[in-house]
Amino acid sequence: MASKMVYIAIFSILLAMGPESCLGKRPGRAAFNSIDGCWRRNPNWLNNREDIAKCSAGFAGKMTNNIGEDVKKYVVTDPTDNPTSPKLGTLRYGVTMIPGKVWISFQKDMFIKLERTLLVGNYTTIDGRGAVVHITNGCLLLYQVTNVIIHGLRIHHCRTQPAGPVMGPGAKLMPISQMDGDAIRLLGSTKVWIDHNTLYRSEDGLIDVTLGSTNITISNNWFRDHDKVMLLGHDDDYNDDKNMKVTVVYNRFGPNCNQRMPRVRHGYAHVANNLYLGWEIYAIGGSMNPSVKSQSNLFVAPKTGSKEIIMSIIDKKTGKGLSNFKSVGDVLENGASFKETGSGYVKPNYNKEEKFPVESGNSVRKLTRSAGALRCRGRGSIC
Ligand SMILES: *[C@@H]1O[C@H](CO)[C@@H](O)[C@H](O)[C@H]1NC(C)=O
Ligand SMILES: *[C@@H]1O[C@H](CO)[C@@H](O)[C@H](O)[C@H]1NC(C)=O
Repeated sequence: MASKMVYIAIFSILLAMGPESCLGKRPGRAAFNSIDGCWRRNPNWLNNREDIAKCSAGFAGKMTNNIGEDVKKYVVTDPTDNPTSPKLGTLRYGVTMIPGKVWISFQKDMFIKLERTLLVGNYTTIDGRGAVVHITNGCLLLYQVTNVIIHGLRIHHCRTQPAGPVMGPGAKLMPISQMDGDAIRLLGSTKVWIDHNTLYRSEDGLIDVTLGSTNITISNNWFRDHDKVMLLGHDDDYNDDKNMKVTVVYNRFGPNCNQRMPRVRHGYAHVANNLYLGWEIYAIGGSMNPSVKSQSNLFVAPKTGSKEIIMSIIDKKTGKGLSNFKSVGDVLENGASFKETGSGYVKPNYNKEEKFPVESGNSVRKLTRSAGALRCRGRGSIC
């Protein structure tokens, strides 16, 4: 009798501790960050894919325009790609040929070599959960679009693409100029949420936010093995990027990232609760008077080389380029140094939909533990 009681007691304790502690498989309750905690506890996520749209935070706000009765569900069944005449069942067909709002998922694991740049339309969600989806070569371009979610993809080995026509949103053939080989490039796009992707080894940047793009949240991604990681702001002369607002939260940078995590021009970035596993040249840099509030990140300096996180890039000709880089609650390890510049930090001033709790810099390893594309399998499996 006594031993049965003990058994029950131990079993209850194990249950209370959550599956992470006994099985080491999935994160326990406390381990989810505020975005993940909103949907990942639901074992029935597969039948409630759209719930995730209510989980975003930061400058993208909630993505509730991407859900509802009028959204068409499209399942990618065919990994092939025809850039000018996409076939039904392919990813390119889903993002260009379907009118109105579309929610795209994948029938099975697939390796998609995009033959050319993929133009993603308005009100489009690409949801890689439930399959292991690799995207290479052509990669993603968001050109003057709004309300886009990109979740759960492995995007890598993106290469320079020649100029020429590709099928665009609204089934319109679009002439596009040469592309530099970015994994995800935003040109003049707003309200975009990029969450839980794994991005690496591409010819240019992993994420570029340029030409007046704003209201962007980049969360829970894993960036690794790359030189120029993230560019926010087109070039020094593009003044419209003054209005750019980007939230960078719960991402993991590294190992083997060199610079631009991010590099900011003109606008504002709130960089919070990210994990930096070293850098080569710098971690956060910028020019043209951008403001960055770096809050409760964990910066682990590289063993050798530069320990300085910040690089303020000043134009030699004009002397312009002062930056406002402020650190609040960051945790610096391995001799990392954050050289603050400017007059004071700018608050994000989030509204109710955008606001999220920034946690202590000491909990960043936990908060970013599942950064990158998740391995959520089928029905009943926890993400
Ligand atoms: C997306 O929507 C915006 C307005 O909401 C419109 O100006 C733009 O042309 C649309 N883009 C495409 C590619 O359909
Ligand atoms: C960005 O988001 C804010 C807050 O929702 C909104 O007021 C503003 O119009 C948005 N900007 C653009 C360019 O969509």
